Amino acid sequence: MTFTWSKQLSVGNRAIDSEHKNLHNIINGIVSSIVSRDIAALPEAFELLEKCLCAYFAVEENIAQAINFDFTQHRRAHQNLLNEFRLIKNGITTKGGIWSKHEEKDYIDSLSYCLIRHIRNDGRPFKAVLDTHFYDFKPDCADGNNILHGCA
Ligand SMILES: [Fe+2]
Repeated sequence: MTFTWSKQLSVGNRAIDSEHKNLHNIINGIVSSIVSRDIAALPEAFELLEKCLCAYFAVEENIAQAINFDFTQHRRAHQNLLNEFRLIKNGITTKGGIWSKHEEKDYIDSLSYCLIRHIRNDGRPFKAVLDTHFYDFKPDCADGNNILHGCA
């Protein structure tokens, strides 16, 4: 059971949407490994998720700075999101591949819900400001700063 990206999840910026889609895909990969009980694949998949989350945080922060959006609260939300994923990862990895169908559903729902909640709820104030800019808006990278190219 994987979940699909929909236009309703757009935050009004192409670079950020692209990061969100990439995170969705990584989560879907983790979900597939959970369903198939491929526990050997999970550490690497969670490592990739964390790496891409950090890259995504940097992309958003860079854009927020360029549009003068106060990122204090959203930065805190990012830390919470990272902690939630770490908790889920720890819960799964300590099980050693032995979990009930009910637990499996909980893991999958939690993984999916974390990101969707972050985009829809935590991201609402940021989206409101992003909506006043072009969809393709990105900070001036003339100084060679490559931070916009996160993990996607
Ligand atoms: Fe965010």
